[in-house]
Parts: sequence; C-alpha cells; structure tokens
Amino acid sequence: MINVKNLSFYRENRVVLDELDLQLEKGELVLLSGSNGVGKSTLLQLIGGVLKPTSGEITINGTDISEMKVKDQALLRSIAPQRRIFTLAYSVGEVLHLLPEKRRSFNVDLIIESLGLVEIMASKVTELSIGQQQRVSLAIALIQEADFYLLDEPFSAQDEDSVLNLVALLAEIKKEKGVMVVSHNTGTHYSQFDREIKLT
Ligand SMILES: Nc1ncnc2c1ncn2[C@@H]1O[C@H](COP(=O)(O)OP(=O)(O)OP(=O)(O)O)[C@@H](O)[C@H]1O
Ligand SMILES: [Mg+2]
Repeated sequence: MINVKNLSFYRENRVVLDELDLQLEKGELVLLSGSNGVGKSTLLQLIGGVLKPTSGEITINGTDISEMKVKDQALLRSIAPQRRIFTLAYSVGEVLHLLPEKRRSFNVDLIIESLGLVEIMASKVTELSIGQQQRVSLAIALIQEADFYLLDEPFSAQDEDSVLNLVALLAEIKKEKGVMVVSHNTGTHYSQFDREIKLT
C-alpha cells in the first residue's frame, strides 16, 4: 500500500498541499482529480521522491520512502510524468528496450499492443505526434515491474479509441497492482474507476 500521512508541502512560503492523507492499495484503480494548480503533479513528484515533503510521511508497503534508496523505490512504484520530452532520436523499440529484461513486467506485449505501439516500433520518438509520444511515455512507465503505477494526465492528448484501450489496459493491470490516474477529463470512462480522490 502507498500511504500518505499528514503530508504538507510548501513552495517558498506558499502552501501547496496541506495535511493530506490518502492511500492506494493493490487491486484498485483510483482517479485523482482537482483543479489546475491544486497540487496533483506535485503529489506524484512527492510520492516519486523527486520532491521532499515539508512535513508528514509517505510509506510504500510499510517503509518510509525517505529511508529507501531511489533504486529500491523504483522497484515498488512507477510514475508517468505529465510531460516527458524526448530529445534523443531513438526508435520506439529502442526506448522500450532501455529497461533491462529483469526489470520488466510480465505483460509487456499486452502493454505495447494496447497502447498502439506495434505499428510505430521503428519510428523515431522525436518524430512522433504528441499523442503518440504520450503513449510511448506511458509504455515506459507501465512496462517497468512495480506494485504501484501512477499516471499523470495520461488521457490529455489521446483520442477516444486510445482512451478506451488505455482504460481497458489499466483495468487489467489493477487486478494485480494499484493504479492511480490523475485526470480531470475521464468522460464516459468514469465508471471504470473504483473511487475518486478530489484534491481541493
Ligand atoms: N517548478 C515549480 N516551481 C514553482 N512552483 C511550481 C512549480 N511547479 C508547480 N508549481 C506550483 O505548485 C502548485 C501546484 O502545481 P501542480 O503542478 O502540482 O498542479 P496540478 O494540480 O498538477 O495542475 P494541472 O492540472 O495544471 O496539471 C501550483 O500553484 C503551481 O503554480
Ligand atoms: Mg499536473
């Protein structure tokens, strides 16, 4: 379980997150919503250990992440950022093979297929559309073996069919893992989520 306890985060002197409590358990697909600027991406960066809490704690499977090495944290959770900028002209296939075999999830083929990457495997990531780049970015996060997956605005650049396929994939992954999706436009797919956490 990811357990966020009494978490506060300040930028300069400004409160971004104030005494927040939330949990993510294996077997659930959770929607994290809230207005622009409310702190959703900040929360994911805190859970990812990129930012440090001002106060409070974040534990994964019972251990405080501040007591874990980054590489051990990476075995437990995988995060797809809101924006991932590709600068090197690797092919999609090459990018997906950067992760060593033993770190990969068992359902890599399903992930690649569900994200519509089969046809663009040989294309350079720098020459893809924004929506295609976003799907590669999601694949990078999802093929990494972990207990928890946190995706920041994975639908933002996706067409209706791609959203449908991605939601179906997440519903499959959550059978064994915990999945949290940041979004404010789930549209007709809202019912696929087990619960919603609204940041205010
Ligand atoms: N790098 C940064 N430096 C300073 N302030 C930042 C930085 N990133 C975000 N902020 C501020 O922190 C607050 C929370 O931002 P955050 O990106 O977490 O919001 P969000 O809920 O993800 O919004 P959105 O829906 O637009 O993605 C905002 O007030 C924002 O202005
Ligand atoms: Mg954000």
